[in-house]
Amino acid sequence: MNEQVALQVNSEKRKRVFSAIKPTGNPTLGNYLGAMKYWPRMCETYDCLYAVADLHAITVAIKPKDLRENSKRLFALLLAVGIDPEKNILFMQSHVTAHAELGWLLNNYTMFGEASRMTQFKDKSRKNPENVNVGLFDYPVLMAADILLYQADIVPVGEDQMQHVELCRTVANRFNNRYSPTFTVPVGKIPDYGARIHSLSDPTAKMGKSEGDADGAVLILDRPEDIMRKFKRAVTDCDTKVHACKDKPGITNLLTIYASLCDISIDKAEREFENSDYAAFKLRVGEAAVETLRPIREKYEALRKDDKALGEIMKQGAEKAARSAYRTLEKVYKKIGFVRV
Ligand code: TYM
Repeated sequence: MNEQVALQVNSEKRKRVFSAIKPTGNPTLGNYLGAMKYWPRMCETYDCLYAVADLHAITVAIKPKDLRENSKRLFALLLAVGIDPEKNILFMQSHVTAHAELGWLLNNYTMFGEASRMTQFKDKSRKNPENVNVGLFDYPVLMAADILLYQADIVPVGEDQMQHVELCRTVANRFNNRYSPTFTVPVGKIPDYGARIHSLSDPTAKMGKSEGDADGAVLILDRPEDIMRKFKRAVTDCDTKVHACKDKPGITNLLTIYASLCDISIDKAEREFENSDYAAFKLRVGEAAVETLRPIREKYEALRKDDKALGEIMKQGAEKAARSAYRTLEKVYKKIGFVRV
């Protein structure tokens, strides 16, 4: 192959995408609009791997039966949102033990000060002072291992995970500089709209799946009547104009949700509601959420009728992921100087 042809082949190589979601609590509209929604489409352009990050779920106390159920639920939900296991590699993180191994190795290339600066660690420590375990502190390093094992180029995430992706880049660069190029240095990618969906009951706080914000968090698997109730009760302000701005966090959040659900710009969403009052606006946003989430819930329910088939998809996904993961891990062991036989 001459140099020009080789270059051409190289530039045509599809980029890799990796992302994951952890099975704590119940997945929300925030998870969907900030991340999951975009994952199924990406395989048209990229080679994609997606994982249920179950190893990440034990940094907070979780009952064994909840971890099992949450993990199966999330795996089925990823299929239900449209991730095709024939076109993507979809797997359970703990089924590929290379994640934990690389996590340990990368600990030694991550500085204590760097991990200490992670805002999510600080927030979670504050909220849960009786369980500030080392796993919670080390969590972003395991996340870096998830990404680097697959030589991912792009990591699609919501805004709250960008700091962790930045740390992953720092660790990858440090390792590459200390030895020789080993890891692809990934870039994080957040959506134009929906990178940070806020709670409907407190629009200054993130809509989270584990925080126990019953009215503020719309769950992907909520029944239509519950979704409508939550939107009708959404906290707004005493003005009447449906307009996005800093002083109107509730309305801005609802406009963001609507724009993201309908794949339109915020400007267009504002124009659509310029003559609406808040009540009519909230009703329409609720309906848009119901319309989007209903087919996902139906597909999910069908998938959960056959846990054996689900297990088979997990097994095949893990086998495919492992091939790529162990190739990287072996390279890392050798570079560091471990004896390989
Ligand atoms: P997790 O499980 O908290 O969230 C999964 C994805 O959903 C996004 N997200 C949101 N986006 C917009 N608005 C919200 N309110 C909202 N809440 C959550 C998150 O940004 C994320 O993209 N550590 C990760 C899981 C993980 C991971 C990885 C991600 C483990 N290894 C490697 C990327 C690459 C987490 O806890 O996400």
